[in-house]
Amino acid sequence: MAHKKQTLGEFIIENQTSFKYSSGELSSLLNSIRLAAKVVNHEVNKAGLVDIIGASGDVNIQGEDQQKLDVYANIKFIQTLINRNIVCGIASEEEDDFISVNSQDENHQNKYIVLIDPLDGSSNIDVNVSVGTIFSIYRRKTPVGSPVTLDDFLQKGSQQVAAGYIVYGTSTMLVYTTGDGVNGFTLNPAIGSFYLSHPNMKFPIDGKIYSVNEGNYTHFPQGIKNYIKYCQKEEGDRPYTSRYIGSLVSDFHRNMIKGGIYLYPKCSLLEPGKLRLLYECNPIAFLAEQADGKASDGLTRILDIQPTELHQRVPFVCGSKNMVDKCEAFIREAQ
Ligand code: AHG
Ligand code: MN
Ligand code: MN
Ligand code: MN
Repeated sequence: MAHKKQTLGEFIIENQTSFKYSSGELSSLLNSIRLAAKVVNHEVNKAGLVDIIGASGDVNIQGEDQQKLDVYANIKFIQTLINRNIVCGIASEEEDDFISVNSQDENHQNKYIVLIDPLDGSSNIDVNVSVGTIFSIYRRKTPVGSPVTLDDFLQKGSQQVAAGYIVYGTSTMLVYTTGDGVNGFTLNPAIGSFYLSHPNMKFPIDGKIYSVNEGNYTHFPQGIKNYIKYCQKEEGDRPYTSRYIGSLVSDFHRNMIKGGIYLYPKCSLLEPGKLRLLYECNPIAFLAEQADGKASDGLTRILDIQPTELHQRVPFVCGSKNMVDKCEAFIREAQ
């Protein structure tokens, strides 16, 4: 008889004591994210039937045209976190500035801050291709009892307490880490519960997939160009297979399962790269390392970068360890 799968709720409770800070607050926080994920999933699944696809008409702080689902997901995650009174601050790709949670947490007793990319890969919404949500959780640096400050958000990725993503794909999955490995949970839509389907996820040490927007090729630094040529060369187990969804979450998820590398290099069109350190690179890098993979900006470990601004962008190289090592060697060689 098949073994009964653990629900995400059960898993969170069972693993509560192994958290670095086991007051139960982090469990509540993860449960809020689980709830918001289900609400956003429901809306994503209806795209095409209700008036939720297309541009909202606004431009976000990143200079991007916001999609209606960007706005919807942003509101849902923020509202859920504020209403449940478990965070003291939130920063989002879709918000100009960080939010200090004063309404529910009047005395500023909450310890955790959350940074989110509410909807990742939003250019894929209109064409029914996988999108995601990315979250990153830190303990505040400033003492409780006062409002959060920018310093609470500008912490190195190595300080993350938890991070994860939801991928709204052929099935919806929530994948997260609290620094003790990576576990993946699949939503059973008939029941509305996430079940542990991918315990202890690990990147294969090597892979054969490379994921990069090659349309930007001519603008890439020489080291990246050389590495792409290496991926394409017929030799040994190469050429590698090119796979690029255009949604970091989905590209990362596939590469973690199959073995591969994701690149969003510095390119002269979009200096210094496109991906946001705080909402995208840090949480994905934490997951990568927890799954025996690797993430860097080509030279420096992502989790060691000291952020200087909320919406900072960095080059990003992430995936199977041997592949990232090889890519870094090409970058160093071309310096
Ligand atoms: P977002 O939808 O949150 O703004 O993120 C989009 C990011 C990332 O998900 C994806 O890998 C990358 O942008 C795609 O960029 P290009 O279209 O330039 O390849
Ligand atoms: Mn965006
Ligand atoms: Mn994104
Ligand atoms: Mn986004």
